[in-house]
Formats: sequence, C-alpha cells, structure tokens
Amino acid sequence: MRYSPLVTRISGDGADAWITHYQAAAARARGEDVILLSVGDPELPLLPAVLDRAIERLRAGDVHYTPASGRRPLLEAIAQAHGARTGQAVSADNVVFLAGAQNALFTASMCVAGSGDEVITFDPMYATYPATIEVSGAHMVRVPTATGFRPDISALEAQITPRTRAILWASPSNPSGVIFNQEELEAIGRIARRHDLWLICDQVYAGLAPNGRVPCLAATLPERVVTLGSLSKSHAMPGLRAGWLVGPIELARHAQSLAMCMLFGLPGFIQEAALTALSLAPEAESRIRDLCNSRRETMLAELKDIPGIQAIPPEAGMFMLVDVSGTGMSAYDFMRALYERERVSVMDGAAFGKRTSRFVRICFATEEATIRMACERIRRFCEERVLR
Ligand SMILES: Cc1ncc(COP(=O)(O)O)c(C=O)c1O
Repeated sequence: MRYSPLVTRISGDGADAWITHYQAAAARARGEDVILLSVGDPELPLLPAVLDRAIERLRAGDVHYTPASGRRPLLEAIAQAHGARTGQAVSADNVVFLAGAQNALFTASMCVAGSGDEVITFDPMYATYPATIEVSGAHMVRVPTATGFRPDISALEAQITPRTRAILWASPSNPSGVIFNQEELEAIGRIARRHDLWLICDQVYAGLAPNGRVPCLAATLPERVVTLGSLSKSHAMPGLRAGWLVGPIELARHAQSLAMCMLFGLPGFIQEAALTALSLAPEAESRIRDLCNSRRETMLAELKDIPGIQAIPPEAGMFMLVDVSGTGMSAYDFMRALYERERVSVMDGAAFGKRTSRFVRICFATEEATIRMACERIRRFCEERVLR
C-alpha cells in the first residue's frame, strides 16, 4: 500500500539512540537489575491533592466531551501562571490546553510553518524537534551552538532566508541545561523583528530554573512569541499529558481548530487535576527543583575523577552532558557498551545533534543511591577501558 510523504518525514534518523533506552526499560519491566538514566521521568509520587482530584472527578463521571481548547477555568489558571512566570499579561483566549508541550509544539509549528518554509533551531536540540517540525513539510535548519552550548547569534543570523518563518528553542535546554540570557534573547528578538519571524519558546523546564524563572521575550514581543508549557517536568506527571501553548489570540484560534481535528477535547478529569496542580505549582516546582539541584551536585562529585569522561555542569534541568571522547569511544558505542557491560542506560548525544556526538546525556533526577551506584558502574567501565 502507498503512504503519504509525511511518513518519511516523521520516521526520523535518530531512532538508533533509543535502542538502549527501550532495551533497558523492557529489562527493568522484567525485574532485571538495570539503572535507567536515559529519560527525564523522575519517579516522584503524584502530589496527593492532584491524585485525589483526578480520582474524584473520574468517580463523578467526568469522562464526557470537553471544549477543544480546554475548559475555561483551566485556561484562566494557565494564563495567570504564564503571566506570573513571564510578565506577559494574557487572558484565557491566548491559551490552548494540549496533550503536553510536545503536542503544543506540533500544534504551534503546524500553525506557523508549512511546506517549503524553514524553522531554525539550535544544535543540540530536543530529539523530537526535527520530526515534529518537518511533519508539516517545513524544513528544520540547525544552527550549531557556540562554546558552552550557548546560542550563536551570528550563526543564527547567517541562516535566515526569505523562507524562514520561526526560531525555536528550549530554555532551559534539553540536553544542555543552558538558560538563554537576556542579551541573547534580545539579539534573537531583534532578528525576529527585522525578518518578521515567529519565536517558539519551549519552557517545559522553566519551573526547574532558579526560582522557577527564566528570561524570556513573551512580554516584549507578544505579537510573535509562542510559549510552550507543561506540567510534565515541574510536577513530575508526564503521563497525564498536560501541556499548553500561549500566544497571540489569532494564533490560539488556529491552534484550537487544529486541536479540534486532532484531539476533539482532552479528558475532563485530567483538566481538573491539572487545575489543582497549577494551584500547587510553587511547592511542586520547589520539590523537583530541590531534588534536581541536590542530585546534580552528587552526580558531578561522583563523576569528577573518572578517567576518560568529563561532565558539563548544567544551569538547570534534570540532564547533564558528559564528554566521553577521552575513552576513545563514540558516544553511541559508549552508550551500547556501558549498557551491555554494566546495565546502565544513558542517551547517545548524537540524538540531539552533531554538536553533542561526543557526549552522552545522563538524567540525574533519581534516587541518591541510584546515582552513586550508576557512577560506580560508570567508573568501573571507564577504568577498564582507559587505564588498561
Ligand atoms: C525540551 C522538551 N520539550 C518538550 C518535551 C515534551 O514535554 P511534554 O511531556 O510536556 O510533552 C520534553 C520532554 O522531555 C522536552 O525535554
């Protein structure tokens, strides 16, 4: 049978990087001794009030159709939370509730770029970006980051063409943990104004930044900024698929039409649980932020003297990039061999771009004892390879 050209655009070229993760997840499900540091899904319990609210609404039969862009009180709460985080005053009309930031990115990009258009992002980037952008027929243009994985503004400007429609980035970044600073954002803003571009800002990790704040352009360029948000990371509840986009009202209307085709409304009990979660955002965010801060320090200390590898301290988030080139192995071979030998699953940095092909990405949002054991295994693995 024949398929449309979109199936090739979404099949992606980074599938190999996930092999180890899927093997490790399957092994863990079989009860085997594996340490999974390849994805950012901390095993924290759902906040009791959120759980209670979800169950209560489920028992009350909240399983009927809901409005395509989300229930009004939830949209209002998101608008308020967004305003507090970014300084941009918005109303419920600027918000569409979607199935996670991933779904929000898909929706936003379908609304602003189509066949033949270009969307620019920085390498390294979150691994699903290329397929999510290119599904529409748009082309993703990757601009390598500068030293420390910071955005390279002149390299960005050099990539602008008449076909460029948007610039996309995550701050804090996954995988690098870089937070874009005011100066970098202002430069990006100037470029966007000059070339009339959309700015898609993925803020899924904003709650994990110091004080839950990151510099952003939403308040200064409200006509062209689309902010993506989610409860997945800030509340450690990715499986509930609670995310959103905030943007100009006209864009929100188009996004709502797309959400109508795609989702036809998300589960009511999840929306009610999300509303409760938003009311508990400060405590939820400090729970995960404190956990990440303390685990990051443990991991940096444990990895410090291991031969052949060098950890790059992230500014925020739950991931760390570790340069493994000193072991003589590619990141992919390191990932495969470490799993085969020591049953520790990390992610090949090549999944995020060329710039990180010498690095593996390690998630440190886990138990202290797990980190120590993982680092012990990584040490043994590296010593065997480097010191032999
Ligand atoms: C940068 C980035 N954006 C988006 C997502 C997807 O988030 P959500 O679970 O809200 O769809 C992730 C998940 O890891 C991410 O790292």
